[in-house]
Amino acid sequence: MFDFDNTPDRKNTFAFKWERYKGKDIIPAWVADTEFSCAPAITSALIERTQHGIFGYTHPNEYSPATDAIVRWCQKQYSWDIQPDWIVWTPGVVPAFNMAINAYTHPGDAVIVQTPNYPPLLAAPLINNRKRYFVNTVRNENKWSINFDELEAMAAKKESKLFILCNPMNPNGGVLDSEALARVVQICDKHNVIVCSDEIHCDLILDGMQHTPISKVHDKTVTLMAASKTFNVAGLGTSFAIVPDEKMRSKLAKAGAGITPWVNIMGLIATEVAFTECDDWHQAELAYLRKNRDFLVDSVNSIPGLSCSSPQATYLLWVDATDLNVEDTQDWAERRGVGPSPGRDFGSPNCFRLNYGCSFEMLNRIANRLDV
Ligand SMILES: Cc1ncc(COP(=O)(O)O)c(C=O)c1O
Repeated sequence: MFDFDNTPDRKNTFAFKWERYKGKDIIPAWVADTEFSCAPAITSALIERTQHGIFGYTHPNEYSPATDAIVRWCQKQYSWDIQPDWIVWTPGVVPAFNMAINAYTHPGDAVIVQTPNYPPLLAAPLINNRKRYFVNTVRNENKWSINFDELEAMAAKKESKLFILCNPMNPNGGVLDSEALARVVQICDKHNVIVCSDEIHCDLILDGMQHTPISKVHDKTVTLMAASKTFNVAGLGTSFAIVPDEKMRSKLAKAGAGITPWVNIMGLIATEVAFTECDDWHQAELAYLRKNRDFLVDSVNSIPGLSCSSPQATYLLWVDATDLNVEDTQDWAERRGVGPSPGRDFGSPNCFRLNYGCSFEMLNRIANRLDV
């Protein structure tokens, strides 16, 4: 019913992902957006709004259709009842976790982050003049988790005030289940460390497991979400925080006051429609991604020197290239005509990250090029 095989040509559209390798025979497989057209219902709604022709101010808190859509989505996806006024709109999840640092910590305090990790998450503590403590990601057989002993040790340090969790994890696609999250919250609570969880990839869990939002486990936490990754509308700069605790919510909102803009009407409409009219499209996308993931995991594991585990979520594959024994794994991939995200940016130079949110045909070309 939905066509994920025929993807639009993004060359010459100034797509960030395609600009890097413009004019070179390198297939871009880096930035975390997909090659898929977004759901037809979203495009139609945006066209209709465009035809109205006026793009004046809309206060996001007054645009109740989007808030209602989030309430619906949280109930449907995570069996989570939220109040509309728990929502704080943010013009991106990256601005949101930087706001959280300013809301809940002071210069000189420490912020805990996982490693390896999405580069802007690694950067956030330092650009806000905070200390940065690391907690390692660990792999047990095919499942990723975090090192809880390290979390305990880092949370116990007196400077630690905030843990910005990333769940599902980028780059490895691991998902922390409700038991693991209860452990995170228990450790952080004991040491008065607030948990702010970046859950931007949470609707891309591929194998039927239900995502658990952190604020469903503990109400004095912050949950960051968006329709952006799942529905391929990231360029519309619209995301939201769900903050059940009123004081914490007000602190978060104040941290953005006068700096972060209101999210715009196009992003609000895209969020509203994604969370109300696109259930079938979402399921079709997950099925397509599952097939892509399984193919790419098998292909990568058959290439001497490369190995990976199968991600539970996301359209991102974290590839360990240690056994290639090459100086520069990014250069190795680019010489073969594939442009992944460099592992060094995530804190692991021996790895790279491939994006399989593309047509099966494009993915085949990526796999074939790596296998020479
Ligand atoms: C874990 C994670 N957080 C945040 C973002 C970006 O969020 P936004 O574009 O809403 O700022 C990404 C994009 O790749 C991501 O992977």
